[in-house]
Amino acid sequence: MATLEEKWNAIYSGKIKTSNFLQLEEIQLSEIFEFFPHAKSAFDIGCGGGKLLSQLEDKGITTTGIDASSVAIEAAKRVSKATLYVGDFEKFSFPEEMKFDLIFVKFVLAYIKKKEEFIARISGLLNDGGGLIIISPVILKNKQSADEIFIEQELLNKLIPRCFSLKKESILYKEGDKKLSLYILGKKLQS
Ligand SMILES: C[S@@+](CC[C@H](N)C(=O)[O-])C[C@H]1O[C@@H](n2cnc3c(N)ncnc32)[C@H](O)[C@@H]1O
Repeated sequence: MATLEEKWNAIYSGKIKTSNFLQLEEIQLSEIFEFFPHAKSAFDIGCGGGKLLSQLEDKGITTTGIDASSVAIEAAKRVSKATLYVGDFEKFSFPEEMKFDLIFVKFVLAYIKKKEEFIARISGLLNDGGGLIIISPVILKNKQSADEIFIEQELLNKLIPRCFSLKKESILYKEGDKKLSLYILGKKLQS
């Protein structure tokens, strides 16, 4: 069976380019920074070819990225100055002191196997007052009728409130029971 790295390298070596996924526009990035005006560092999980990293660097943010695909990370190295890791985030261990102001999860959440652990781990990697930005295709019901990249609304509604509070959802696109959403979430302080 192909490893996660082999799976994604094969995808990127086929018709899908590392730059194929919808990019955030300046208006969306500005809105994110309105909620987190003091953010200085960001971590992009599943950073692909690094376009978002370079957009964040243009805003003076210190960046870190991880991706399962070495092909994607090679592409990211060409456009970004980020600290980059090749690996499966779910198995990767980061130093205790590694913390960020913002974490981005763009077109990645649906591929994560243990989503509850993932969300909790992200919270642990964020500074107090930090934010999680999720961009994902969402299906309102019945995941079976959608492509692998979709996540069910009901699951999101359960996952997010454990560690995060919703600051804003922007629906970037909607058709029938499917939408593309950008969630701006604030880390909840653990009591
Ligand atoms: C649909 S692509 C999106 C890439 C990028 N975020 C973008 O929006 O252009 C999903 C990316 O997540 C990466 N990925 C999937 N599962 C991962 C995991 N467990 N750890 C790290 N990266 C992962 C894949 O290698 C792929 O580059």
